[in-house]
Amino acid sequence: MKLKQLIYGIATFVPGVNQYRAKGTGGTDSARYCYSVWLRHLVMAKNNGLNVYPKVVAELGPGDSLGIGLAALISGCDKYFSFDVVEHSNSERNIGIFDELVALFRNRAAIPGDDEFPNVKPYLNEYDFPADILDENRLHDALEESRIKKIRDVISHPQLNNSIVQYKVPWYDAGILEKESVDMIYSQAVLEHVDDLLDTYKSMYLWLKLTGFISHQIDFKSHGTANEWNGHWVYSDFIWMLIRGKRPYLLNREPHSTHLSILKEEGFKILCDKKIKSESRFTIDDLAPRFSKSIDEEDITTSGAFIQAVKIN
Ligand SMILES: C[S@@+](CC[C@H](N)C(=O)[O-])C[C@H]1O[C@@H](n2cnc3c(N)ncnc32)[C@H](O)[C@@H]1O
Repeated sequence: MKLKQLIYGIATFVPGVNQYRAKGTGGTDSARYCYSVWLRHLVMAKNNGLNVYPKVVAELGPGDSLGIGLAALISGCDKYFSFDVVEHSNSERNIGIFDELVALFRNRAAIPGDDEFPNVKPYLNEYDFPADILDENRLHDALEESRIKKIRDVISHPQLNNSIVQYKVPWYDAGILEKESVDMIYSQAVLEHVDDLLDTYKSMYLWLKLTGFISHQIDFKSHGTANEWNGHWVYSDFIWMLIRGKRPYLLNREPHSTHLSILKEEGFKILCDKKIKSESRFTIDDLAPRFSKSIDEEDITTSGAFIQAVKIN
């Protein structure tokens, strides 16, 4: 057990003790990370026969900056919605990241790969600039000076209604977005943190156009709450409640199979389920009773997955 995590979680129950350490989430504070993540989702969309020119995109859990969505806008999307439960991002950082992203697209920079970001998934077969997706015609229009200036100007006011960039924090209700209005909904390292997974998938289903798709990289690991990558499944619900404390989010501890079941029940057709396999030092009997009943041999060795899915019409 990671005692430090337990002590921190318990401490958050004490009135006056800071319930959330604003350390940042890591990841989207780097423009190269945002560029890499956006292009990986696009390349995977192409590989799976999906629309690589989504006009309206929505992101769950952007974290430290809106950079992944800004990369989407720079590469030609018209509108970007972003939903989080904690306001990690701010205009100053977003503008800095935006300027770096524009330079990366102008230079047709290769996708930062495993040497630079060894932990970022999905892994691709190759990391060349995807000129087949972002061809010269598309980039000529997308990178046009007045278009780039317009996006840069609105980044300072992402809360304004009808702005092409919308950042809603906190969000808890599907009504925050019009039904069937989005071409692509994506997240990176977020769905493992979402408390109400079922309602979140239901919201995505409502928001998605009939022709749209979802694209999610999910990390099932213990995020430092245990010594083993899957040690969070050993903790009882009581111990987990103490570790979580009053943090606004931690981990929902749902394994890969839960995502697949919800997707199927809610009417999605899975087009891609790229799993990351890791060895388990635990057997299923070592897990807390709740998990030893629900987690199977496949789940206990699945530490991550990249999922793309469409609505069944
Ligand atoms: C590990 S960070 C990932 C941030 C970013 N996507 C990245 O790749 O660096 C997890 C993010 O999920 C957000 N989050 C947690 N619960 C959420 C929810 N129910 N809806 C949307 N975002 C949520 C957190 O606030 C945080 O921004």
